[in-house]
Formats: sequence, C-alpha cells, structure tokens
Amino acid sequence: MARAQPQFVCQSCGGIASRWSGRCDSCGEWNTITEESGGAAGGPKRGKQGRGSPVKLVSLDSELGEAPRKSTGISEFDRVSGGGLVRGSAVLVGGDPGIGKSTLLLQIAGELAKTKARVVYISGEEAPGQVQLRARRLGLSDAGVSLGAETNVENILATLGADKKADLAVIDSIQTMWTDTIESAPGTVSQVRASSQALIRYAKRSGTAIVLVGHVTKDGQIAGPRVVEHMVDAVLYFEGDSSHQFRILRAVKNRFGPTDEIGVFEMTGGGLAEVSNPSALFLGDRETGSPGTAVFAAMEGSRPLLIEVQALVADSNLGTPRRAVVGWDSSRLAMVLAVLEARCGIRLSGHDVYLNVAGGLKLSEPAADLAASAAIISALTGSVLPAENVYFGEVSLSGAVRKVSQPDARLREAGKLGFTGAVVPEAQTKKSQSNLSVSQVSNLADLVAMIGAGSGKENTNSSS
Ligand code: TYD
Ligand code: MG
Repeated sequence: MARAQPQFVCQSCGGIASRWSGRCDSCGEWNTITEESGGAAGGPKRGKQGRGSPVKLVSLDSELGEAPRKSTGISEFDRVSGGGLVRGSAVLVGGDPGIGKSTLLLQIAGELAKTKARVVYISGEEAPGQVQLRARRLGLSDAGVSLGAETNVENILATLGADKKADLAVIDSIQTMWTDTIESAPGTVSQVRASSQALIRYAKRSGTAIVLVGHVTKDGQIAGPRVVEHMVDAVLYFEGDSSHQFRILRAVKNRFGPTDEIGVFEMTGGGLAEVSNPSALFLGDRETGSPGTAVFAAMEGSRPLLIEVQALVADSNLGTPRRAVVGWDSSRLAMVLAVLEARCGIRLSGHDVYLNVAGGLKLSEPAADLAASAAIISALTGSVLPAENVYFGEVSLSGAVRKVSQPDARLREAGKLGFTGAVVPEAQTKKSQSNLSVSQVSNLADLVAMIGAGSGKENTNSSS
C-alpha cells in the first residue's frame, strides 16, 4: 500500500492543502489548518486500480409512493423533518452545547421505542449512568431504548449489525467518534468525515435511520464537519437562548421534506415540551400600555408566528450612540435607522437605540422591518401603538414599503389570536379574506404620519 501522505486540512471547511499556511485558501479562515495523516478521504477500498464494475441502472419511476417514514410521536419534530424519520436516512442535528440536543434525541428515541420500534442510543460523551439518570427524569426508563457508551465506529457498526436491525440509531455526538482507518484525533475533520461516511453507508445499506448529533461553534458552524452537511439527507439546527426556555428546531436542508419549517419546544424540568401554539406563548407576557412595542406577524416556513418587537430610544451623550439589538440583524437595524433619518426626517443620531425580539427568537425575515420601524418611532415619540395591530412589510432604501410573502396566512394568525387591525404594505392584499381592518402604507413616511396622528402627542415628523 502506498505510504500515507500527510495532508493539511482546514478544520473549518474541510479544504485540503498540500502545505501548511496561516489562512485557508478555500474559506479564508485564519489558523484553521492542521496536519492530518493520510487516507483522509476514507473512502471504500478498491481492488484493482482503474477497473470498475458496471452498476445496475434503473428508471426514475419507483413502486414506492412516498418515502417510507416513521412518525416519531413528537409532532414538532415530525413537522420539521417533513413527516418523521425516513428509513435509511441520515440526519444531522446541530446546536450549541447545552441547548438540549441530547434531551431531544433521548425523548425521540424513547417515544419511538414505545411504539415497539427498535432504537439504539449510542452516547460518546456521557456514561450510561448519566443517560439513565436523564431518562428517569424524562420518564423514559422503561421505554425500551438500547443504550451504549462507545466512540469507536467499527464497534458501533458491529453492535448495530449484530442483533436485529435497528429502526433508529442515535449517535451522540459525531465529534467524539473515531474510526480505525484514520490516524487523526477524534473531532478532526478527517475523523468526523470518515466516521460519518461509515455510519451513513451503514444507514443506506441496512435501512436504519441514523441521527448524528453535532456541536456548533461560536460562529454558528457545525464544528469541523461542515463536510458532514453535504453527506447527510437532512440538517436540523436546534437553537435558542439558554436564558430562555424556548427552543427552536429548524431544518436548513432536507432531501425528504420542506426546509424553513420550525418546531417550537419549551425546556421544562421534565424535558422538552412541545409548543403547538407558539404565538400565544411568545405574546404571553406582553405589556400593552407602554410605547416602543409592536407585534410582528412573521412566517417561519409554512407556520405564521406573532412576535413582539420591543424598542427603546434614549438620549445619548456618546459621540457614537449605541445601537444594540437582540434577536435581529444589527445591519438591518442600521439600515432602518438610516432610512428613518434620510427619508422621514427623524433624527436618531443623538439617541441610543435598543431593539429586542421578545422570547429569545431570532428573526431573519426582512418583513420585520415595518414592525421594527413602528416600535422605534413609538419609542422615540412616546406614543403607544394600538395594541390590536400587527405589522409586516419590508422597507427598501428609498423608504418604500415592499410586499412580503404569504400575507393571508399572517393575517389569519393575527385574527385567530384576537388582533383586529394590521398595518401592511400597499398593494399587498387585494381586499384580504381576513376580517381585520387593514391599513396600507406605501412608504415609511406614511407609517410615521400614522403613528404621529394616532397619538395626538408630539409628532417628530418634521423634515430637516
Ligand atoms: P443537553 O440535552 O445535555 O444539551 P446538549 O446535548 O445539547 O449539550 O441539555 C442540557 C440542558 O438542558 C441542561 O442545562 C439542563 C437542561 N435540562 C432541563 O432543563 N430539563 C431537563 O429535563 C433536562 C433533561 C435537561
Ligand atoms: Mg449532549
């Protein structure tokens, strides 16, 4: 066998270089290249070189109707995965350490095992005692999950192959796994890649659904194994703010279902509880009497969600006033503030601006612009926004308010939760089917005028 060449692998993107350098040419990250000894490809060994054997080709038509799925009994997970776990599929569940990945997967394993499915849970991080303790806390001690503590992939595959075929195998976590075929330490890109490859190959061959748990680094990448994202069938992120009890499961890739769906959970003393009506939860402790809050009608995948956006505008004696934002994009806030200054004549340069999305949710939709603007204007002018209104619309640099997707679903959700009014982009709803009283704005200046007029208080809409 040829001598294994050392190679230099970027721990961030998995790019391979022939020599060491401080910066990765592929992704531009600094100090991520480490030396790993050869065989990093970890692919299956071939007999004779250059001599392949023909494979059987088939047509696109199949006898199977839908992908054979197994509902997990946790409907928020089923919603995100597109209806449950698909036989022989590989799913990566990523998230910050401590967010609740192990808890979620143990609950899924337990629920599935209760339906007489065979479920194996392999923990590479915790001793069996720890997992058993957690299972007791979750009331899953007698659910019938087979538990193993192991980090060697060959041993795991032997365990899975020995007995009856498992329906689900959970590998917690992929960063702790290592295979004999590679010399590098566990957690390095080549180990993670080779281990995942071996496990995924087993999944395809045996029909066992495999769930890999992956930790995420500070900057939001699944540590090291961004390479794994390409190999698996679905990538789900489990996110949330550890100071809040809400947890969001989000699909970022799904070969068997929609992406952009979210599942909402609440971390309780007895594990993760499903939240089937998240809007009610997110609006739970809303204060309606104070200025600076607006309710945004958001869409997360196919699900509408009402979220409170809060703003505080305070006089600043700093040369560069503070802009702080939690749960939204700070450059988006800077843009909205610039548009308010330049197009609506609202002076904010002498003020600190704080923006917060209640409940620890992270918004990524540009449709939140209008709600954020309304909250900021309300906070600045001190005029309380009507508590019965929801807001949505994207603000462009010209100050125009643009249309957003799925207005009817947003309005319907607002109606369901007792809202009676909505402020929406002009031309958005050609007489909407909802029975909300819809006010249309074509320009951010319209919104400023509307809030000023509504309050009867000081109106800062004076052009400079
Ligand atoms: P865990 O699933 O271990 O996180 P991860 O696998 O993503 O690292 O979750 C750990 C946190 O969850 C821990 O801080 C305690 C909390 N927790 C609860 O609040 N209630 C529970 O019932 C359980 C099992 C955990
Ligand atoms: Mg864990």
